[in-house]
Amino acid sequence: MYYPDELIEDIRSRNDIVDVIGSYVNLKHKGNSYTACCPFHHEKTPSFHVSRERQMYHCFGCGVGGNVYTFLMEHENLTFPEAVETLAERAGVALPEQSMSKEERRRADERTRLKEMNKAAAGYFHYLLKTDHGSNALEYLKKRGLSDDTITKFGLGYSDKYRDDLYKYLKSKGYKDNELKDSGLAMFNEKEGPSDRFWNRVMFPIIDPNNKVIGFGGRVMGDAKPKYINSQDTIVFDKSRNLYGLNLAKKSKRRGIIFCEGYMDVISMHQAGFDNAVASLGTALTVGQVNLIKRYTDRVFLAYDSDEAGTKATLRALEIMREFELPARVISLKPYKDPDELISTEGTEAFEKRIEEAKSGVMFEIGILEHNYNQDDPQERTEFQKEIAKCLSKINDPLERNNYIESVAKLYNIEKEPLKEAVTVFGVSGKSNVDMSAFADRTRRGSPEQEKKKESLKTERILITWLVNDNSLIQPVSEYLTPEDFVEDLYRDVVRMIYDSFDSTGKIEPAAIMDRYYSKEEHEELSSIMQQDFGVEISNEEKSGEITNLVKRIKEKSIKYRMDNSIDLNERSKLIEEKKAVGKIHINLN
Ligand code: GTP
Ligand code: MN
Repeated sequence: MYYPDELIEDIRSRNDIVDVIGSYVNLKHKGNSYTACCPFHHEKTPSFHVSRERQMYHCFGCGVGGNVYTFLMEHENLTFPEAVETLAERAGVALPEQSMSKEERRRADERTRLKEMNKAAAGYFHYLLKTDHGSNALEYLKKRGLSDDTITKFGLGYSDKYRDDLYKYLKSKGYKDNELKDSGLAMFNEKEGPSDRFWNRVMFPIIDPNNKVIGFGGRVMGDAKPKYINSQDTIVFDKSRNLYGLNLAKKSKRRGIIFCEGYMDVISMHQAGFDNAVASLGTALTVGQVNLIKRYTDRVFLAYDSDEAGTKATLRALEIMREFELPARVISLKPYKDPDELISTEGTEAFEKRIEEAKSGVMFEIGILEHNYNQDDPQERTEFQKEIAKCLSKINDPLERNNYIESVAKLYNIEKEPLKEAVTVFGVSGKSNVDMSAFADRTRRGSPEQEKKKESLKTERILITWLVNDNSLIQPVSEYLTPEDFVEDLYRDVVRMIYDSFDSTGKIEPAAIMDRYYSKEEHEELSSIMQQDFGVEISNEEKSGEITNLVKRIKEKSIKYRMDNSIDLNERSKLIEEKKAVGKIHINLN
């Protein structure tokens, strides 16, 4: 990125991917590749593949993948430059001193400075809490049962009631107006000048796992609305990828992570010794947050509010957890509203007991279903039982599934055998874990236009996979297809690189192609295309037919696209000629 491409490539080639990944994961040699249980999601049978030949990895279960750099970035949570530095050191390659470009350096500095400013603000809020100005706030926190220790540990504070108190303080520390604006701590109004975002509130600094203050939540001390104000997203604060309390929870010795809704819930759980609690930041749980949490734990407890909104949030969270194969249990808080209320009324042991009694996600879902059906009406009861079967069919592990069938049958007084049969029926028709992509395609149908585009993308993907699998196809295919024939930008560029590389060296290096891309999404997409083995032996004749069809389809799409977008008569007549020629395309393999 900010090191020269050749250097990045050189370092990569000196770090064999099997050796590097092998030092973190227990790899088993199998055929052409090395396999293991995926370190990025929970699984019992290995679907994580590492290929020495291609210098790439890919998990056929959860879709992660990339080259040796991607692996370090994902597994060790490193930035790209850090991954380069780590591997350079491992291979004994010296790096040039000036590693970042000016632009990158500027942005890094900006982020550092913003975090410092946030830290200064947090320090100031905390200081105010201990002065006369903050006496009401301190009293409020004490009244809610927080000890001095807890207040210090969470760095709680108070924002004063003057409109620009923090603004003035930060200015006196040398921060500039534009920096204050970027931080979201101050707002600028042409008529009235600068003002603080937070006034007269109890302040909760939000601290990331590296112990940097990235944002704030502020609560009114009475019943005014809005109850909470949170920092807006900034270059250092992305709500969807952070969790309140994770800086502390990541060090916890307790098993698992407890998710709850509010700041106060996290704080009161920690104070009671449940120091593995975190909260999503005033939003529904996001995929980014689950991804984050997977680095720290292999099981989750949900302790959302017991009201209807909380129940909905729980069901939604269970769905995401299931997608990420993170086992989740649900803590019942009834009759209390939230963990804070339960702990302050009933105490620590009561909460400990609730954790022990937490229901698995499936049992929780079934419990919710029960209330939707009138159990005295035979027809409704049948529907209820069908829903149960559907729920149970989502459990992948056969032993676990069976155990659940047993307990559900007992609990709801249902005959075991018919229930078992119904579960099997749904298991077959649902096929949820067999072909997730087909499933997603079916449920997330777009407009006919989008559907068509998806279809042609699939064709393009398959052809690229063939080119990577069998380099002898590159030359014949390139006679008919140019990179510009590919609709998708990413694929077009990849094909261009494949052609270029084959032209100049007679081979292609998937891992080097990958280095041209920086985003996780691109790496996952590329690794799934390039790591795929068709794994079937087919005759040259069949192969030639298959490839010919793919090439024809891509060409037709490309011609149609250009037709639709061209008004130049000359060009259109050329396109008509090209279209006629499509019928004659034949990929010859000998
Ligand atoms: P207490 O009422 O002090 O016990 O707060 P709580 O932490 O229990 O909050 P609650 O369960 O009401 O809400 C859960 C979370 O949603 C809070 O911690 C906030 O992050 C967020 N939230 C609640 N109310 C508001 C609001 O009015 N505005 C915004 N932006 N977020 C809110
Ligand atoms: Mn509360």
